[in-house]
Amino acid sequence: MLKSDRRTTIDDVEKMLDPPDAVVEALLQARARVNRYPERALGVTSTFVSEDARMHTVFVERMRGLLSRADMQTPTWRRLVKVTEAGITQFLPTTSCDLANFIRCLTFHVWVLGVLKPDDPSDRRLLSGHHLTVEQITNAFFSVSETGNTSVSSDQIRGALGQWIPDHDDDNNPVNLVFPVYEKLWRLVAATVLCSQGYSVSKNPLLDFCENPTRRQFETSRGTDQGPSATDIMNEVLRLHPPVQEIWRQCGHPWWETLVHGRMQVADIKAVQKFDEAGEVIEEPNKFVPERWRGERKPVMFAFGSGQLKCPADPWAQALAALIASKVTDRVDGMAFTLEKIGGTPKYIWDGWLICRLPSN
Ligand code: HEM
Repeated sequence: MLKSDRRTTIDDVEKMLDPPDAVVEALLQARARVNRYPERALGVTSTFVSEDARMHTVFVERMRGLLSRADMQTPTWRRLVKVTEAGITQFLPTTSCDLANFIRCLTFHVWVLGVLKPDDPSDRRLLSGHHLTVEQITNAFFSVSETGNTSVSSDQIRGALGQWIPDHDDDNNPVNLVFPVYEKLWRLVAATVLCSQGYSVSKNPLLDFCENPTRRQFETSRGTDQGPSATDIMNEVLRLHPPVQEIWRQCGHPWWETLVHGRMQVADIKAVQKFDEAGEVIEEPNKFVPERWRGERKPVMFAFGSGQLKCPADPWAQALAALIASKVTDRVDGMAFTLEKIGGTPKYIWDGWLICRLPSN
């Protein structure tokens, strides 16, 4: 068993993710060395598994380009709303289905058709032809994230993705554009759908955002009592259920130091997000309280990493996840569809939840 050095305080996590004077090559190397599993299982070749600084610059720039094209003021964003609604209709079950499975298929559909192929008609469906279905691909991605392996081959996945995502001149690998991004996004969507169940329809900030998915509405607090905004909800979901619960690095210590500290460093994102900016443990850290983001002293946020390798999708990813989650909440409203929980001890908040179609009168 490899010894690892677990970081749970703000200073320790900062020093690990954003060490003073570190050059990007060293940071990429420390990340690439612990990220071999998506390369092995899926054929991911992007900056997440590479030590190459030029490849890092090119990939991050390309991602920034995708994000700015789909910003909330753009026609692409307005089309994303329609793509999301069409995806929900496509994937809702005839009788019942696993909630996480449904959110995985839907998020994949939104990412691929809405963001990666923004020029196609919004009502286009992801038909699978001779290839894997959306459910088979998303299940394979989930299995790789959880266990490092899948029974589906990387060639099959690449072939299936290639039918929807055009090859690019400088990077022929569609897996790079989907797996590392979509895998985080769907987790945030699923956790948001469940966390927001506590609000009644008339008091749910996500449903206001569903009706009016603009940047202003996303940030606006609710009603005369200044209740939480959709942004506060997303921050609190990210704090309690960060899609990346741990960030790993191989340390560059000399060998004698690694005997004491271990060869691996782990930033425990869930643990460190129990502190506020002043380094104090927040009140009732295990409770979902979006209002805490309206206070003077906010909790710390490491869900998108920190420093030179920090995620470029913060805060756009929160808005997209809020959009998808709000549209699901709007459709699964207890009238035609409802959420039901079956037993068991869950590892994740979404384990054991089903979407069920209600009989029509
Ligand atoms: C809920 C959604 C997301 C979460 C929680 C998330 C989280 C993260 C985290 C923790 C990292 C840092 C990894 C590390 O330090 O090793 C990261 C990096 C990255 N993320 Fe995200 N991410 C999300 C969505 C996205 C989206 C939608 C994009 C699409 C543009 C994206 C693109 C990237 C890229 C390109 C990097 C690498 C940055 C670099 O190496 O400089 N992420 N993400």
